[in-house]
Amino acid sequence: EKGGFKHFMLKEIFEQPKVIRDCLLGRVDQQSGQVRLPELDGLPVPERLHIVACGTSYHAGLWGLYLLEKLAGIPVQVEIASEFRYRDPILPKNGVVLAISQSGETMDTMAGVKLAKSRGLPVIGLCNVVGSSISRESDYVVYSQAGPEISVASTKAMCSQLCALLLLTLYWGRRSGRLDTAQCTAILRGLQDMPRVLEDALPSLRAEAQRLARHYAEATSFLYLGRGPSYPLALEGALKLKEISYIHAEGYASGEMKHGPIALIDPRFPTFAMALDDEFFPKVKSNLVEVQARAGEIIALTNEGLDLAVEHPWFVPKAQAPLSAFVVLPALQLFAYEMADYLGKDVDQPRNLAKSVTVE
Ligand code: F6R
Repeated sequence: EKGGFKHFMLKEIFEQPKVIRDCLLGRVDQQSGQVRLPELDGLPVPERLHIVACGTSYHAGLWGLYLLEKLAGIPVQVEIASEFRYRDPILPKNGVVLAISQSGETMDTMAGVKLAKSRGLPVIGLCNVVGSSISRESDYVVYSQAGPEISVASTKAMCSQLCALLLLTLYWGRRSGRLDTAQCTAILRGLQDMPRVLEDALPSLRAEAQRLARHYAEATSFLYLGRGPSYPLALEGALKLKEISYIHAEGYASGEMKHGPIALIDPRFPTFAMALDDEFFPKVKSNLVEVQARAGEIIALTNEGLDLAVEHPWFVPKAQAPLSAFVVLPALQLFAYEMADYLGKDVDQPRNLAKSVTVE
């Protein structure tokens, strides 16, 4: 049932082209270049959005913030569910809560949903499992349509959450008039093209991940750096490495590095950076120069043609800004996977973890 793959995690990473296709299914009107989300037609465009989630789903939400603010013009707060539920948060009446949960069973996220409802706010559930508790409790449900995820470490579910968040952004951005048809169509074309791009890229991404994993297998700690929408991906890359390879890793906003973590840099503490061809590149590059000045080794997910000299540039296909995440994410997942597998860890069943966290 692993379809010839050694682990469910690897199988699910390789399913991501299909996950994007399935998430888009029936949701794109080719003629008008519009996104169709009839499940939300009854809800006005939110004036403010509170995203509530845990773990990987929280990282997806944080990525969504960058898009929703920039492209849809919606003020967004992203909250770790276990903090949100006990903080007595201020929830203005014009707000909407978006709960993101693969399983739809996470206790803290569910508590956030109940809190929002008790304050009279509409709740949208972005869930993968159909009929799950959070999907039933929410006023509106958008399914991410990733299919069953077996591996404890979440991979394809995050891909589907990113895809759904992008669709939500385009849907609201068009309805509020913030995005015009041309902008929307351009992004949708890129997104519809992504499965093919990924199908081509995945085998070589894996080969490179394997090579790097052998080189870095002795490392005991990693710093993941990203800026802008790559910052949540840095957090996710670090989380994946921790949970399946048991190697310590920290994800940081690259501009925050000089405010503390730079003290850790030495030749035995490698940095894994997102240095893509986007508006953030010059800043990321200067952060990496600071790492190099302290003799830190660097792996950088980057694009061909950029002026960047690091030990291990890892070239990925270039994609326009919000879409690059769909290429970066599997690279991060594959690196964590290959590290864990090389070190002989139980990839699909990491110690101390459960697939759905139904306790506090
Ligand atoms: C990480 C992972 C967890 C979950 C988190 C939320 O690989 O799987 O961090 O993302 O427990 O789970 P859901 O999305 O089911 O609410």
